[in-house]
Amino acid sequence: MPSTNRLTEEPLQKKVERFRAEIKSFPVCLVTGGAGYIGSHTVLELLNAGVAVVVIDNLCNSHMESLCRVHYIARTESQRLQQNGNVPPIFFHQVDIRSTKSMNLVFEFWQSDKIHAERAIIPVSVGEVSANKAYLMLDYTLNPAKRAQPSPQTKDPSTWGRITAVIHFAALKAVGESITKPLEYYENNVAALVVLLKTMKAHAVNVLIFSSSAVVYGVGHEAGISEETVQVAGKGSGGGLLTNPYGRSKWMSEEIINDYCVADPNFHAISLRYFNPTGSHPSGLIGEDPKGTPNNIVPVILQAYQRRRSRVHVFGSNYDTSDGTGVRDYIHVSDLAMGHLAALRKATKQPGPVPEDEELDGQDPVSNYNVYNLGTGRGYSVLEIIKAFSNAAGTAIPFTVGEARAGDLGTVTASPDKAASDLDWRAEFDLQDMCRDVFNWAAANPTGYETLRRLSTMSGMNSQEMRRQSVATGLFDREEDFDSFISTSLSSIDNNNASKDSSGRRMSQHGANFSNMLKKMRSASHSSAVSDNDNPFGGNYALSSSPGHGASGAPRFAMTWGEANKTGTIAEGEEEEDLDLGPTLSPSTSRTLPMRSK
Ligand code: NAD
Ligand code: WQD
Repeated sequence: MPSTNRLTEEPLQKKVERFRAEIKSFPVCLVTGGAGYIGSHTVLELLNAGVAVVVIDNLCNSHMESLCRVHYIARTESQRLQQNGNVPPIFFHQVDIRSTKSMNLVFEFWQSDKIHAERAIIPVSVGEVSANKAYLMLDYTLNPAKRAQPSPQTKDPSTWGRITAVIHFAALKAVGESITKPLEYYENNVAALVVLLKTMKAHAVNVLIFSSSAVVYGVGHEAGISEETVQVAGKGSGGGLLTNPYGRSKWMSEEIINDYCVADPNFHAISLRYFNPTGSHPSGLIGEDPKGTPNNIVPVILQAYQRRRSRVHVFGSNYDTSDGTGVRDYIHVSDLAMGHLAALRKATKQPGPVPEDEELDGQDPVSNYNVYNLGTGRGYSVLEIIKAFSNAAGTAIPFTVGEARAGDLGTVTASPDKAASDLDWRAEFDLQDMCRDVFNWAAANPTGYETLRRLSTMSGMNSQEMRRQSVATGLFDREEDFDSFISTSLSSIDNNNASKDSSGRRMSQHGANFSNMLKKMRSASHSSAVSDNDNPFGGNYALSSSPGHGASGAPRFAMTWGEANKTGTIAEGEEEEDLDLGPTLSPSTSRTLPMRSK
């Protein structure tokens, strides 16, 4: 008897064939860590450029929900641009990149026609899953001229349906944690890279784009850092040294890739050294969703705004900078994503071996391996960042200035010139865009992807049970907060033009169903007499923010922000413990955030 997929009863072999047939019309890129923050934004730009994506992620720091939203955004954008709507697929494998066996199975699945379903790791078709979901997203202007240009791969149909390149995001990334768990960092970031390279070699995939970091410059290098800046790994905190295992894992990874490029001139690789990524896609549907207690400044600012911590602790005020606080090069994640597309174009330009006279001996750089900074070249101090976010929020973000953080530098900014000249890439978004997009994402997703994921796991319950469970499981503090979340997510459906989508056209049937279900949910959540089958999430629908147009005609977005802003700036030196107050979603304060105009 043929094995079947339990959910659809579709024979597995048939499903495998269907997936293979579907991907054959597209160039294919494999993305590790594609469900994560930077990965999800990059997967979106790959789809926009006509590239199908195979994602490998073990979801240790992400949700598959991000990919569902990515596919939804790509479909919506395609409709808005009146393209044919034939958005490339995303196939998702929940796999750990440390496992040689699993990695080989994934590559075999896509690179070989012979593999039988019994032996394969069957992926999830993200487009199929997200087709049953409806999202209402923020309005934003699409500029087709600014879309990523297709990579050369797209022009050669003989390569379609096969993985021809890998973008490798999957890694652990918390600097502090790496000091207490160095082996986990070396295993996930370094050993797994070797597994990936060996698997790529075994399946003749010869293009790699690698997520590196400005952390590899170590201490002793500050403003306008260029790619040639020498890194010297080692212990301690002297000039040029790397001070933590995370930094060393990225430096070692770069060295491994360089060595492999020396050994195999057919292999083309690019390492991209990101400076300080922030922001989120202007739709408000995808963004950064850090687990645990965040350390990076922007998530910390957001938590202070949400009153999930009392204030921002500014680390140090005696640096040699304009106001004494640390200066960093913040870059919008959508700009970063476009940087990956630019790198892919460059790395796939010259398939085949590098000409012999370009090869260099030993450890010298080789022309089939390149390194680029992805930064803006412009730095902002911690106080400037807090001010920019305060302006975007319309309220003061509380902060205190304290001791410097061990290992921190005064200024870290990029020279973006090499990426500009070689990759024809420059950052386009400014600090205001980053602030606005961070707030929009957070407003629509107050507890990140978790809100909707956990609500949707309650799909067997009626609304009253969901209301109780949402508190019992710690998703909301009070049942009223659950009501508030539902009703504020609905408010713009009522107040604004409910039956239009973000492009101003009639909503799809999904959108209309969605709006009706939310209305039902709202009345149910305010009523004690609730029937047993009124759960709007039962149909696999997901909730998001809604677009709309205010009285002035300007697009707007409304969301409740609890009592976030009753405190102003806390005086320097005043002591208060950081509190994790959890999400605050009381119905008391409603905030309208501006929309992007780019
Ligand atoms: P992220 O945690 O959101 O994404 C990483 C993804 O990799 C997650 O989805 C996680 O589940 C997955 N992953 C981790 N280990 C895995 C494993 N063993 N097998 C399979 N999947 C695994 O982080 P991000 O901010 O999107 O970062 C992406 C990459 O960029 C990382 O390599 C990171 O080191 C690098 N980077 C990030 C920053 C930053 O500030 N965000 C800065 C410089 C470099
Ligand atoms: C930015 C500025 C802090 C938190 C790290 C990694 C780097 C890369 C990006 C992965 C600094 C100050 C921060 C706070 C503060 N990640 N700050 N109070 O340290 O530049 O870089 O993230 O590759 O590798 O090292 O970023 O956001 O932590 O700090 O005053 O609560 O904000 O001192 O000046 P950093 P960050």
